[in-house]
Formats: sequence, C-alpha cells, structure tokens
Amino acid sequence: MDLFDKCEIYYKRVEEALTKGYYPYFIPIESETSNWVVINGKKYLMLGSNNYLGLTNDPRLKEAAIEAVKKYGTGCTGSRFLNGTLDLHLEIEKRLAKFFNRDDCIVFSTGYQTNLGIISSLVSKNDYVITDKLDHASIIDGCKLSFGNVKRFPHNNMTSLERILKSLPKNSGKLIVVDGVFSMEGDLCNLPEIVNLAEKYNARILVDEAHAVGVLGKNGRGTVEHFGLEDKVDLIMGTFSKSFATIGGFVVGEKKVISYIRHNARSLIFSAALPPASVAAALKALEIIQTEPERRRHLWKITEKMREGLKKLGYNTGESVTPIIPIIIGEDIKTLKFWRLLFENQIFANPVIPPAVPPNRSLIRTSYMAIHTEEDIDFALGVFKNLAKYL
Ligand SMILES: Cc1ncc(COP(=O)(O)O)c(C=O)c1O
Repeated sequence: MDLFDKCEIYYKRVEEALTKGYYPYFIPIESETSNWVVINGKKYLMLGSNNYLGLTNDPRLKEAAIEAVKKYGTGCTGSRFLNGTLDLHLEIEKRLAKFFNRDDCIVFSTGYQTNLGIISSLVSKNDYVITDKLDHASIIDGCKLSFGNVKRFPHNNMTSLERILKSLPKNSGKLIVVDGVFSMEGDLCNLPEIVNLAEKYNARILVDEAHAVGVLGKNGRGTVEHFGLEDKVDLIMGTFSKSFATIGGFVVGEKKVISYIRHNARSLIFSAALPPASVAAALKALEIIQTEPERRRHLWKITEKMREGLKKLGYNTGESVTPIIPIIIGEDIKTLKFWRLLFENQIFANPVIPPAVPPNRSLIRTSYMAIHTEEDIDFALGVFKNLAKYL
C-alpha cells in the first residue's frame, strides 16, 4: 500500500460529509469572537468558545497587545532558552507565581507544549506517570514523549488509581496528572481523594487548570483553590487560550522543579517564545481576573440558568458542574445531526465524537461566557426546547 492511500479514503469521507452538510470542523468565523459571531454572513450565538471571561475583545487587552507590538515588535524569533526571553516574559512569570502563591513559574508558547514539556522532562526511565483516561490529549502526548512508564485509570475511578499506586515500586518517582475541569464533560477531578492517595503512596500531583483558572475558586485560581488544597498540589499548569483570551501556557511550582523544567523541557527549548502581544494581553487578563470578580459571578449565573433550563427540558448534561455543559447523545451520527439542527437554528456548538470521547459517549459540547446575556440564554433555551423532540 502506498503511504498516501489512507489519505484518499479519509479525503472521500470528508468530502461526503461536506456535501451532505454534516461537516462541523474548521468553520471560518468572519467577525470578532464574541457572544454572537458571523459565519457566511449570518449571525450565530456562540456556545462553543473557551473565552470564559469574554475578554477576547476587551479594549484593555487589545491596547496592551498593540503597545507590546509597538515596543517589542511582532515576534521573538527564537527560543526562550537563547534569544527569545523578554523582560515581559519574566514579568508575567513573576505575577503568575505570586497569584498562585508559588515560588516560581515558567511560560510556554501554548498550553499543549506546557503539558508536553512538564511531563516529558520530569518523568524519566524508572518513573511512573498515572493519568485519568479522560485527561486532555496534551497530557496523553506528554506521556508518550516521556521515557517513563504510563498507567491510566478509568475516569475519576479512585479505587483503580489506588490499585495502580499500590502496585508500583515503593521507591519509584510517581506523578499523578489530572485535568481540574475535564474539557469535554465539564466535571471536576476528585482532588481530595487524589491528594489522600498521593500522600499515602508518595506521589506528586500535577493539575491541568486550563478550564478552571479565572472560572473556579474564590479568587479565580481554579479547581485546586475551589477544593482548598493549594498546599497539597505540587504543580499547577494553565493556558492563556481560554480565560486569558490569547495563547500561551504556564506552570507554577517549587523553584527547583520549575528550574528543572526550564532547562529540560524540549517543547520550551526547541520552540520559539510566546510573542510579546500575547504576553501583554495575558498580563492584562490576569489583572482583570484579580480585580473583576463580577465577571466570574455573571458567568456562573448564566451557566446555572442554562444548566437548569437544559435539565428541565430533559437533556442529559452528565456530571457537569462548570460552564462547560455537554449534551450527551451517545451515537455519533445522531450527534452530528443534532449539531446540524442547532447550526440551522443559529447556534454554534461543538459536536464531540470518538476518539475525543469514549465510544457511545458522543456529545454536543456547549460552553458559556461572562459576555452572554440573559437574553442569549433565553434564545438558546428556546432553540433547545424546539429541538427537544428530536432526541
Ligand atoms: C485541559 C486542557 N489542557 C491543555 C490544553 C492545551 O492548551 P492550548 O490550547 O493552550 O494549547 C487544552 C486546550 O484545549 C485543554 O483543554
């Protein structure tokens, strides 16, 4: 078989989905990414963004990015390791470390690279990394890149996690990695129990707070703050691609550990530094996260109104307790058809089918933002009400 034969098969499937109108990916948005967006000249209510605090069009972030471009230019043209570190990078690392009450921080160019870098640098040959089966792909890929041993437990199954930990050599290095908020179903990790088990079996913990920073916790510090376990978790990583409304990633923790990651993470060392505009926007977003809790409050109000509304209509929203609200459908074809119906009714949401979710767990992922209004939610619930009979 020729190497490209699989592409032919794949290409035909994509073309067929496009012709039939069931292709939900790479849809070009022609407007600002706000609560409403324009696609092909038509307005859609955005229920598919990770812009939780609604900051992507905040004039303060835009201004900060523009000023950074004026001062530093458009890019760093090199790795943080060599020519790519700006004083601006150090500034945001200092502020993030302070925000999370940690010794130190290192900023990467994306959240994906952050997980790749942390896991692959820390977990070496005789170490173990233990992950939840629903952890984000960047965690799974970080494990693949590490030279350590990888173990996985069924989603949030603490009995299985304990069984794994018990079976590992007592003196081996162990890292448990979990999403704080799981990105597809919007549920939380069982952090209290993970902390207990980590203490019992001498394991370290890394929590991915991509969907939690700015959203959960009294001060917006995420799931770890939400559970009051900030002194029990070794490493917290996050991304700038969601509440921070730009791009980039970071990890905070103990000085010597961050220093080790800084000097060994290949996804940091062999990739160009985060551009100044993104750092400046993230700095401004951090300031807003710290000073405008009302954004968070509104986000939760909107979220709960939507969750209650969907439940009343009989939709299955799973275990979600966050602004990520899935509508669990099961079959993938039915999910794509339902996505299409939503789209025809001016709702932009994300269909999620295997391998992004387990088989027969296909869902429509909806997510909410601090810029959604009560009227937006009424509109969305109206559409869901009309379409309920379909399911
Ligand atoms: C849980 C989780 N971790 C990490 C990432 C990667 O972040 P980024 O988009 O900044 O690469 C994502 C983004 O989808 C995510 O959902």
